[in-house]
Amino acid sequence: MGNVKFSSGEQIPLEMHKVRVVQKLNLLPVEQRQDALYRAGFNTFLLKNNEVFLDMLTDSGVNAMSDNQLAAMMRADDSYAGSETFYRLEKQLQNVFGMLYFLPAHQGRACENIIAHTLVKQDQITLMNFHFTTTKALITYMGGSVEELVIDEGLKVSSDHPFKGNMNLEKLEARIQELTPEKISFIRLEAGTNLIGGQPISMENIRAVSAISRKHSIPFVLDASLLSDNLYFIKVREPEFRDKPLLEITRELGELCDIIYFSARKLGCARGGAILTNSPRLHEEMRAFIPLFEGFITYGGMSVREMEILAVGLEETLDMEVIEQTPIFIDELAKELEKNGVPVVTPHGGLGCHINASAFVDHIPQAEYPAGALAAAIYLTSGVRAMERGTLSEQRNPDGSEHLSEMELVRLAIPKRVFTLSQIKYVADRISWLYQNRTMIQGLEFTEEPDVLRFFFGRLKETTPWADSLSRKFRDDFNDSL
Ligand code: F0G
Repeated sequence: MGNVKFSSGEQIPLEMHKVRVVQKLNLLPVEQRQDALYRAGFNTFLLKNNEVFLDMLTDSGVNAMSDNQLAAMMRADDSYAGSETFYRLEKQLQNVFGMLYFLPAHQGRACENIIAHTLVKQDQITLMNFHFTTTKALITYMGGSVEELVIDEGLKVSSDHPFKGNMNLEKLEARIQELTPEKISFIRLEAGTNLIGGQPISMENIRAVSAISRKHSIPFVLDASLLSDNLYFIKVREPEFRDKPLLEITRELGELCDIIYFSARKLGCARGGAILTNSPRLHEEMRAFIPLFEGFITYGGMSVREMEILAVGLEETLDMEVIEQTPIFIDELAKELEKNGVPVVTPHGGLGCHINASAFVDHIPQAEYPAGALAAAIYLTSGVRAMERGTLSEQRNPDGSEHLSEMELVRLAIPKRVFTLSQIKYVADRISWLYQNRTMIQGLEFTEEPDVLRFFFGRLKETTPWADSLSRKFRDDFNDSL
């Protein structure tokens, strides 16, 4: 992609694949989108997919598969125990990360569940660059808590730091001294830090965190769910790695970490999860939980077809031409939005384009979920389903008070190889129109609020009616256009 220059001099992302299977899309008129939004309680998770035009909720489990992945699926060896498929996948994981032991699980949070059961004791603290929703929920469920030590730059929405997901090493050392290693369940780094805008971590930082954790004999765990984009950023933003093969980078990760786990719904464009370690002791302890929570250890809740798909997907992740497509498309969308003044997280990260809702709707108080309101307004305006990544996605504090999020973001996820450039341009066009009309958007309040992971099925309503007037304004401006 990066090697093709257009004679006009314009830099246009060029897809290095062709589309061979398609799915028809449905774009409802704005009035019907408004009805759908009310039915969904202003929560984009509760929209039906046939009410959605472009689904940018997540990349999880919705990445496009390659011809080779589909072909591999056909040779899956379906047996409860000792399936050939398991051994093929194990070999591929050993090849990619150079780690000895592999435990399968049905998705990323299932890996986190196993790790939390193995490593978290009552009142222990997990130190991490930044939490992910399911990680934190499972650690707190086990009686632990999390502390975030991302560098200060990581919490600045606008920055030019190339690795905003990095851990603050001085703070890490200081907290280990203060708490003592016994009080720390494990140290976790999340590649492509999800909740602060898909921001990568550098290899230099991973090396340093590994050295600190080894010095204090604290288990070091890497969440590699978003590793694909992170690998791309290591290659293009960290000079040492410009000419290094991706396999060398993934192998080094295997040497630096005690445990690597990932959601295969993201890494490897499949569905499932994997835990890897070199430690016979950790392997044995974690293995005990696999038949209890997941299934027999040669499938761990995954379909063997998905395991074959994953083995090929991992191989494809080592191809720069494959992994660069998503971050380059994200950059394109973010640049189109910036041209029209729409505030986005910078540098543009991985996973999706992240809009800064605090600036977009700066008139909505944080307790009225500005990012949730903006995600709802984006659906109303475009049929595009985005995801709130702000206060709504946080857990309340133990005393029941609202935990205001560090950032109020709306994520437009870019599933791998799914959308075309004209679709990206459509998204930028509609959101730019919304930005012109942003003062019409008002806040939200809960009508139904679950205790755990409330953003998934919580229902909300408008603090003052605004969706109807926004929808009328759309109709006035766009006439008979969908
Ligand atoms: N870790 C990270 C960094 C993730 O982004 C996710 C999932 C998980 C763990 C859990 O994996 O969904 O397979 O159980 N992120 C999805 C998202 C849900 O939309 O960002 P899972």
